[in-house]
Parts: sequence; structure tokens; C-alpha cells
Amino acid sequence: MFSKYIEDQSSDAIELINKGYKIINVENLELLSNILAQFKNYLKEQNNIVVKDLSELHNHLDIKNLNSIRHGFYEKLNKESSFSKTYLELAFKTINDVVGSELAANRSVNFSIQIPNDTTSKLGIHSDCFSGESEFQINLWVPLTDARDTNSMFIFNPDFSRDVINNISKFEKLGIENLLNEHEDQYEFVNLSFGEALVFTPTCLHGNVINTTQKTRISFNCRYKNLFSPYCKNEENEKKLGTFYIPITPKAATIIGLKNKIKY
Ligand SMILES: [Fe+2]
Repeated sequence: MFSKYIEDQSSDAIELINKGYKIINVENLELLSNILAQFKNYLKEQNNIVVKDLSELHNHLDIKNLNSIRHGFYEKLNKESSFSKTYLELAFKTINDVVGSELAANRSVNFSIQIPNDTTSKLGIHSDCFSGESEFQINLWVPLTDARDTNSMFIFNPDFSRDVINNISKFEKLGIENLLNEHEDQYEFVNLSFGEALVFTPTCLHGNVINTTQKTRISFNCRYKNLFSPYCKNEENEKKLGTFYIPITPKAATIIGLKNKIKY
């Protein structure tokens, strides 16, 4: 049904549709290096931590301070209300290609630190749609360190993910976490170096496990969607435009339309 539309897509977009993800080179490496320098500066100024290689961060901090360090930098970045628009510059052309030019984004860019053997930062297998996120969004995930094997995230392929989600009660009865052991051929850990970015669809099952490598992984993620694509209809759910999502690149026709909206 979609094949004639898929044919018209770029090779990056076709890979994203077929695999559920695509690894690209960051489009603004200077910005990424600047964010990395800001984080090192924050560690030094606010936490007395001097670290040359961030993948060694676990050797310089007490795990009990991990969450306050993570949260402190998250707040610092996101107090600038347009950080999700700045962050978009890391993959502007790709997001425009695969999502569109008129975008809504998460109000805040998420920030994660996965240190070796930390059992508290595990994120079980899920689709973001389980929590009312849109099927139409794409996640831009960018590491500040290399991301490899269990310090990275895993993602299941689109067909398998669709099958599980369409039969979720059956798979929940069997124990959804068992999918990792029982279907090793259906997912992979994404391997990225500093300077690369991952775009993926959160309709594919994904998550992370305990980091059994000797390296810390630090990463950001933010979701982008077409401004006028559907939002969660459940009244109680917070994943709405204006609260959880903000418009970041409305075009002239939209601004005119909103200014002149006729109340019937
Ligand atoms: Fe997720």
C-alpha cells in the first residue's frame, strides 16, 4: 500500500523505514563539541570534577551524586527555552528529510548518563507509544561519548516490534523482558562514535540494559514530529502540543492561519 510513496524517499529515509533507525554524521560538529565543553565546564565548576575523557566519568564521581549531576545539567541546558531548536541543528537536514520542515519538538531535551554496572538507569523494553507518544515522531539521539554494546541502546526491527505491539497482552503474559533472551536475532545494540547521531522511530521496541562495559555512555535525545500530526487524544495524558510538545518551526501560512483563525 505504501510502496509507491516509499520509492520516492531518500536513501536515508528508506533505511529508516526498513530498519527503524539510521545512523548519520552530526551536521554541526562545532555545536556538539560546544555542548561537550559546556558539560565538562559544568562538571568542573559545579561538581569539582575534572575529566578529560567522559567515558571515564564513572571513575570520578560517587554514584549517589549521579542523578543530581544529570538533572543539574538537564536543567541548565533546558532553561534556554529553545534548546530543542538548537539541538535540531545536529541533524537539521535529516529531520527535515524524514519528518518535515514544520516541526514540533519536546519542550525539553532529555539527558542520560549510563555508568558501568548501574542498576538504577535501566530502561526496559518499550515503545514510546505505550505512554501516549505519537507514532509519527522521530527521536534524535546523540551521544557525547562513543556508544557501544550494552552501554548503548538496543532497538528491535519494525516487523517484529509491530507484531509484539499488536499482540501485547500475549507478550506481556510471557514477560516482555524475555524478548531480549528469546529473540536475539530481532534486535541490535546501536554502535555510534562521538560525532554520529541516531535517528529512530520509537514505534520500534527499544531500551537499555545494565551497562556491562567499562565505559560510561552520555547521550541526549529529543523527539520531533510534524506540527500537525496527531497528538494523544486521552484527556489525562500530558503528551500534548503546548505542554509536552512545543512548535519550533512554524511556517508563514501557519502563523497567518493561527492569527486569523475563525471561530465558527
Ligand atoms: Fe523510549
